[in-house]
Parts: sequence; structure tokens; C-alpha cells
Amino acid sequence: MKQILKNFIVIEGIDGAGTTTQSKLLAKFLEKEGKKVFLTQEPTDSEIGKLIRKVLSGKCEIDPRSLSLLFSSDRAEHLYGKGGVIEHMENGFYVISDRYFQSSIAYQGLSVEKSFVIETNPFPFPEYYIFLDVEVDMALERIGKRGGEKEIFEKKEILEKVRKNYISELGRIPTETRLMRISGEKGIEETHSEILSLFT
Ligand code: TYD
Repeated sequence: MKQILKNFIVIEGIDGAGTTTQSKLLAKFLEKEGKKVFLTQEPTDSEIGKLIRKVLSGKCEIDPRSLSLLFSSDRAEHLYGKGGVIEHMENGFYVISDRYFQSSIAYQGLSVEKSFVIETNPFPFPEYYIFLDVEVDMALERIGKRGGEKEIFEKKEILEKVRKNYISELGRIPTETRLMRISGEKGIEETHSEILSLFT
């Protein structure tokens, strides 16, 4: 049986799907309910995370397998390291992570053998997995409005494939994980309310 981490909530989706917005809204809601909440994200702010961001910006080019392993290594530290996910869980926190290993399967799976990505991500599944399923055109429109520098994956052809990978990977989510797939055509508030139905 696959290991499941209780009170661990993961929000996933392609760039521009709104994972950050929904993670923050959910954190606020759970805090108002009196729960202790640790809101976190991948890539993290660690030194490994900083190196990943450099690669994502296009400033530093490395082999896709190396990038895949950097994400796994950042994740291992995020999960097991000091002040990480597991430590917070043991201290009674709900942990919300904006992205987790499904991102590696969806994104790194484009340029690296899927079996390589899966085998190098031997991490427990979350209790809740929320997938924000947004059409690529809508996601790109949101990214455009946000402004700032584009990252290496923020292109239509790439995001189409990433979305397909996310969808085909839904089948690997264990039945013990509470899975919610939300169509991204909905607005921020409607999506938020749908997410809350998992917790009320
Ligand atoms: P993103 O959530 O878009 O961060 P920000 O909004 O701060 O830029 O994540 C950065 C990018 O990293 C995004 O394109 C997805 C990618 N990514 C992977 O390719 N693999 C992974 O394992 C993770 C966690 C993210």
C-alpha cells in the first residue's frame, strides 16, 4: 500500500492555473477555523530551490535529468529536512503545498523517461490532492497579465503536454488520497468554495 501523509494537502496545475492563489485562500480558511497551518511551495526557497529557479529562468542550462534530480532533492529536504513538512505535521499542522511530486511527473516527464522521474520520486502521497485543470490558453492569458520574466516551461506547446501528463497521472493517485479535479473555467471564488467542500 502506498504511504499517505495525513493532513497534507497538495494543490497542482499547469503554470497560470492558480495554485498559489488557491493555496493562500485555503490556508486563510483553515486558520480561521482555528487550525495550525503551514503554507509552503515547491521549488522551495532553499539553496537547491534557488539553483532550480536559475535554471527555470533560462540563466543556467543543465541536462533535464539533472534538473529532475534537483527537484527530487529539493523535495526530500522540503519533506524530511529541519522545519519541513513532516516536522510540521508531527507538531499538529495542516500542511498545504503549492506543487509536489506530480509537478515533476508532469513537467520533467516531458524530457526525461517517466520511469526515471517516478523512481527518483519515492515520496508519500498527500491525504488531499487538488488538481486545478485549466485550458492552456486561459493559463497563458493569466501569466501574461501577471507580467514579469517568462520561465522556460511557460509556452503553449509545452503546457499542452504538461496538462496531458497531469491528466494521465491522475490514475496513479491511490484511492486513499482524496482527489479533486476542478475545471479552471470557474472563477477564483467558485473554485475556492469547491475546494472547501473537502474540508466542511
Ligand atoms: P511555479 O509554481 O510557477 O512558481 P512561480 O509562480 O513562483 O514561478 O513553479 C515554477 C515552475 O517549476 C513551474 O513552471 C513548474 C516547475 N516545476 C517543475 O518543472 N517540476 C517540479 O517538480 C516543480 C515542483 C515545479
